[in-house]
Amino acid sequence: MSSILKIGIAGLGTVGLGVLKILSSHSELITSRSGRSIELKAISARSKSKNRGVSLDDLAWESNIIDLAKRSDIDVFIELIGGDDDPAKEAVETALKSGKHVITANKALLAKHGQELAELAEKNNVSLKFEAAVAGGIPAIKTLTESLAGNKINKIMGVMNGTCNYILTRMENSNLAYETVFNEAQKLGYLEADPTLDVGGIDAGHKLAILTSIAFGTQIDFAAVDKQGIELISVQDIEQTREMGYRIKLLGVSQITDEGLEQRMQPCLVSATSPIGQLENAMNMIIFDGDNSGQVILRGAGAGEGPTSSAVMSDIIDIARGNKVPTFGQSATSLIKMNP
Ligand code: HSE
Repeated sequence: MSSILKIGIAGLGTVGLGVLKILSSHSELITSRSGRSIELKAISARSKSKNRGVSLDDLAWESNIIDLAKRSDIDVFIELIGGDDDPAKEAVETALKSGKHVITANKALLAKHGQELAELAEKNNVSLKFEAAVAGGIPAIKTLTESLAGNKINKIMGVMNGTCNYILTRMENSNLAYETVFNEAQKLGYLEADPTLDVGGIDAGHKLAILTSIAFGTQIDFAAVDKQGIELISVQDIEQTREMGYRIKLLGVSQITDEGLEQRMQPCLVSATSPIGQLENAMNMIIFDGDNSGQVILRGAGAGEGPTSSAVMSDIIDIARGNKVPTFGQSATSLIKMNP
């Protein structure tokens, strides 16, 4: 067996703790699948003293994530703090420049700086992986970069924000006003700290921009995503739509049209009997239309401890196996700039 893969985790929120738990509960299974042991060496989080229900005694603690990113005893830096700029950006850059592989769940960072970070990873001959950044437990990135790599992708379509889908289905099923369900979703902890990221279609737009880059070989262009949220949808809209046999979904669509690459994230009418029409509550669904594969439909949980940490684990295991899939499915320098 080859040498141990040593990792450091920045951020011990829901996902970070989820990864810690899987590393401990599935240790044997992960070692057999990786062909080597994986060892968590060091961590960094806001508070050292907070009771997280797991023992951190054997782990090195870094109060500054930049120090974690350059530790000589880690091979992989896992960024789970979020935010589309520093300190997350600086930490990821530091790790890549220090020759460490990086795993991140940070879609906002990728949507804004994914191109330069992918180029930096390539320059330093390390991996930048982000399965957890798009649709949580759904293997959307690996499906595109690996399983569908032999296809020209015609279209991507999907529901990529569980909170919005929850709000819309709850409004419809219980005949409740938007504000009532919004407050309920907030109490349940579904909404991001800044709720406009969810209900304004921004979070889902980040995910669509990432998938679009991989599917169409283009540089990420989040600004080009035509975004509209769900804030203005009323129970009456939903009721009328239902009477016509449709449902309202916050739907993401990317495709090449005569005018160029189109990326839209907005409320749309979908047939109530279609797979997306039947998607309830906080579930996500992503549909890829490949020229050879035909339509491939993925459905699953887009958030939460288990699903999102499952996606992070898949990236850890990929790195342990030496799987060298390029960040966006092809060399970052070969990606086309769509809106020069
Ligand atoms: N706020 C996101 C959602 C979390 O509701 O889907 C996962 O990105």
